[in-house]
Amino acid sequence: MDDDQTDGRMSGQMDGRNDGRNDRRNDGLNDGWSAVMPLAELQDGRSARVLLDGKPVLLAREGERLFAIGARCTHQGAPLDRGPLRFGALDQVTCPVHGSVFSLGDGRVLRGPATMPEPAFEVRVVDGTVEIRAVGTDA
Ligand code: FES
Repeated sequence: MDDDQTDGRMSGQMDGRNDGRNDRRNDGLNDGWSAVMPLAELQDGRSARVLLDGKPVLLAREGERLFAIGARCTHQGAPLDRGPLRFGALDQVTCPVHGSVFSLGDGRVLRGPATMPEPAFEVRVVDGTVEIRAVGTDA
């Protein structure tokens, strides 16, 4: 399994390892990470909707891989967490309303009508809890 420096995708691994730089929960600093749900509640092959700073985020799980992108379709706001997931060479979610397809890895549009990407989040698991933070938050 990869270490924390993965292949550049925005997905996370659930091995719970980290190098200690980002885990400062005990001193009140958390480098932007927010706990959003217990891992045990996110079923393999399924998605869930969580809130980060009041904004909906889609979490998806495929085996030991975790993904997080915005959950409000950038086309007309449909809930992406209700759309079908597809895992493979291009991990993706399809909007349930007009069929836009977004990359689960980085939120980019794979097929319109949407033209704007979804925000992407880094994902990790610490002590059985899924944590996310906006990409580029690393302090
Ligand atoms: S609302 Fe998602 S494609 Fe239109």
